Amino acid sequence: MHFKVRAATKEDCKEISRMILELAVFEKMPDQVKISHEELERDGFCQNPFFECLVAEVPEENTSKDGFTVVGYALYFYTYSTWKGPTVFLEDIYVMPEFRGNGFGKGLLCKVAKVGKEKRCVRLQLSVLDWNTPTRDFYAAKGAQDLTDSEGWHFIRFDGQNLDNLANEAPKD
Ligand SMILES: CC(C)(COP(=O)(O)OP(=O)(O)OC[C@H]1O[C@@H](n2cnc3c(N)ncnc32)[C@H](O)[C@@H]1OP(=O)(O)O)[C@@H](O)C(=O)NCCC(=O)NCCS
Repeated sequence: MHFKVRAATKEDCKEISRMILELAVFEKMPDQVKISHEELERDGFCQNPFFECLVAEVPEENTSKDGFTVVGYALYFYTYSTWKGPTVFLEDIYVMPEFRGNGFGKGLLCKVAKVGKEKRCVRLQLSVLDWNTPTRDFYAAKGAQDLTDSEGWHFIRFDGQNLDNLANEAPKD
């Protein structure tokens, strides 16, 4: 099936927002999505964007059953390893169910790797839910190592009141 992977534009944010929700439904946490397409536009397409995004697009003659041409996305940003240097972090990768198994996911993943390499990244990292074995197998088949298995890392987050508490206890300048 023909498709292309291209850099997302501000105009794609409604479609990306739709697929973020689809991915959250797949991940069984749809209530966690609080980001609107306007916020994506603001945060991804400003002077110092928080993220970059690629979309997978099919030609008009191959639209989804609901008429969509943007049928997958990969959203990523840059972090820094004090051990290894520049790193690209893949926050989301998603292909609509009816288009899976046609190389779209591979196309998105490989393009993120290529873009990252062009920015001197030496690592591509991501997190995946433990029960999502098809996707864990997809990454493993592409050569990824599972750091929880091999090194025992936990994935830690501060948010809400706990984040406020930390910030409020910061030393005065
Ligand atoms: C993961 C996902 C993006 C893969 O996209 P896709 O378009 O279905 O995958 P592709 O067709 O590009 O497959 C690429 C390669 O991976 C292989 N592959 C795909 N699924 C696999 C699996 N479950 N186990 C092993 N290999 C797999 C394919 O055989 C193909 O191999 P090849 O390069 O040798 O031909 C897609 O299935 C998806 O959106 N899943 C649900 C959402 C999700 O889990 N997102 C990630 C959250 S961390």
